[in-house]
Amino acid sequence: MIDTLNIDIKKIAESKISQIDFNNIQFGKTYSDHMFTAEYENGEWKNLRIEPYEPMRISPASPALHYGISIFEGLKAYKDSEGKINIFRADKNYERLNISANRMCMPQLPEQIFFDGLHTLLELDNKWVPDVPGTSLYIRPFIFSNDDYIGIRPSERFKFMIITCPVGAYYAKPVKVKIEDHFVRAVEGGSGYCKTGCNYGPAIYPAKLAQQKGYDQLIWTDGKEHKYIEESGTMNIMFVIDGKLVTPALGDTILNGITRDSVLNVARDWGMDVEERKVPVTEVIAAIKEGRLTEAFGAGTAATIAQIELIGYKGEDFQLPAVETREFSNKVLKELDGIKLGQIEDRFGWVSKI
Ligand code: COI
Repeated sequence: MIDTLNIDIKKIAESKISQIDFNNIQFGKTYSDHMFTAEYENGEWKNLRIEPYEPMRISPASPALHYGISIFEGLKAYKDSEGKINIFRADKNYERLNISANRMCMPQLPEQIFFDGLHTLLELDNKWVPDVPGTSLYIRPFIFSNDDYIGIRPSERFKFMIITCPVGAYYAKPVKVKIEDHFVRAVEGGSGYCKTGCNYGPAIYPAKLAQQKGYDQLIWTDGKEHKYIEESGTMNIMFVIDGKLVTPALGDTILNGITRDSVLNVARDWGMDVEERKVPVTEVIAAIKEGRLTEAFGAGTAATIAQIELIGYKGEDFQLPAVETREFSNKVLKELDGIKLGQIEDRFGWVSKI
């Protein structure tokens, strides 16, 4: 794979790997030795290279800094028992990166640059893919405007980069979430379905207010009436109600999560009833009160399956059934982990090995 696209390995870093304790990794704190970069200018992607991970130069006038002209992805790689690197559903991340690029007036990234860049980087930093249970290598591909122009217009120069970091759990324990009925994450016609920085930055303040009240995260509701559930924090959200798996249907305002899609596929494969539809807040609250809601969890790449133990709504807190009693979400987490680690047959063709 190396050099099929003339990826210039500029310099091998002095490795920092001895500084990390793989048994005790904090999410997003320590980055692997190298990073991949490609540059877009005059209508073409060029200067494909791998360099030591380090701070980079960017124009102070870059629209990435001023107008949030940046998009990103998140995926994970695992080490299997034979020492091979298993990458989970990278094709879906590649697809979604270009969907986000389109919305943000960025050029499409060719498939070969994404995959050759990713594979070359992972081969070089192979030792950074952890094999401790519960850990993985989080991979962050991103594109941002590299223009040197402060006016508002579609940018002309971009950088595509990939950085990686070994990670453990994003949420160390089940989360308490508050249903948000004032602030909004996304609106119809907006960019909620994309992974652009603009969707994440403004969400931090409402989440901080909820954290001051003892919650870990928010459940976002629709921007018009706050009547329908959308996502939870940085994850998609799912419920088991009356034995059916229920999740908000995709649209302009909801990220097409790859963990979401994986959970739905496994559930359908197991013969479970799955409903992707509008999910009214009132239905969820009634189902909790009547004991018909047996599970609630977030689904995301960083968070995997994050159990929700408590939901707050309009000043009232609702305790959910004990996590140990949740048959589906515990089982689907194990199933997905088994597929990712090569311990369960990859019947969906989701894992690529390098
Ligand atoms: C992911 O799950 O990959 C995300 O992008 C969430 C992130 C903002 C930490």
